Amino acid sequence: MALNSHRSNTVLELQGVKKTYAGPPEVQALHGVDLKIHSGDFAAIIGPSGSGKSTLLNVASGLEMPSQGRVFLTGIDVAEQTHQQLTELRRHKLSFVFQSFNLFPVLSAVENVEYPLLIRGDRAADARQAATEALALVGLSERAGHLPSKLSGGQQQRVAVARAIAMKPAIIFADEPTANLDSRNALQLIELFVTLNAELGMTFLLSTHDHRIVDRAARRIQIEDGRIIEDVVVREGTLPQFPKELQT
Ligand SMILES: Nc1ncnc2c1ncn2[C@@H]1O[C@H](COP(=O)(O)OP(=O)(O)O)[C@@H](O)[C@H]1O
Ligand SMILES: [Mg+2]
Repeated sequence: MALNSHRSNTVLELQGVKKTYAGPPEVQALHGVDLKIHSGDFAAIIGPSGSGKSTLLNVASGLEMPSQGRVFLTGIDVAEQTHQQLTELRRHKLSFVFQSFNLFPVLSAVENVEYPLLIRGDRAADARQAATEALALVGLSERAGHLPSKLSGGQQQRVAVARAIAMKPAIIFADEPTANLDSRNALQLIELFVTLNAELGMTFLLSTHDHRIVDRAARRIQIEDGRIIEDVVVREGTLPQFPKELQT
């Protein structure tokens, strides 16, 4: 019963999405993609280089507009939004974990995490509290005051994850998040994502080559030449179980 209501909670939907890059040469990167991501999903988009993974994530996250078809983020049609509305939607409903952590070198860990919250207009005290909680969730409470240069690569990556989750997004995107990490840090990142999904019900849509992510993904979406050729739920995603202090 709870499972059904959870499954019906669609956080992202693509309907017949095509994406053509004007050339020359003109490239059709997506050939009509239909996809629904539900709250609590841990989904991996898997496919060879050039198959359209990044394009899919960029269109799904409202960073790029589809050439045809529709994209709904938390039920909202992105094409019907003004530029400003889309910016607001993206700031409140989704976050991206970047390969290059994109941390500000002059800001401490906690300042890096709270920065996007302040930008979108959260009150300073709320932003600091959310940032502090997020750093605790990634195991970096003791490093909150450190500059990125005083953190290891793996710790910097966890700050980037804290920044993504502090926003309490409906969905977290990550484009080949382990591509630039050594195997130890890659494994830690995968396990962190898995834990955030399993224990807090956070929703992930990742693209990856990495078989370790594929192995841990509850849902595997195979893409080839801009088409989804397989979409398998290996195990049920977790129920959303945000602890009270993380609920908006
Ligand atoms: N900005 C762009 N302009 C033109 N072609 C692009 C652009 N981005 C991606 N492409 C092309 O679209 C196809 C899909 O690319 P991409 O989505 O980056 O695949 P993947 O992330 O799976 O490697 C490729 O043929 C790529 O060359
Ligand atoms: Mg890519």
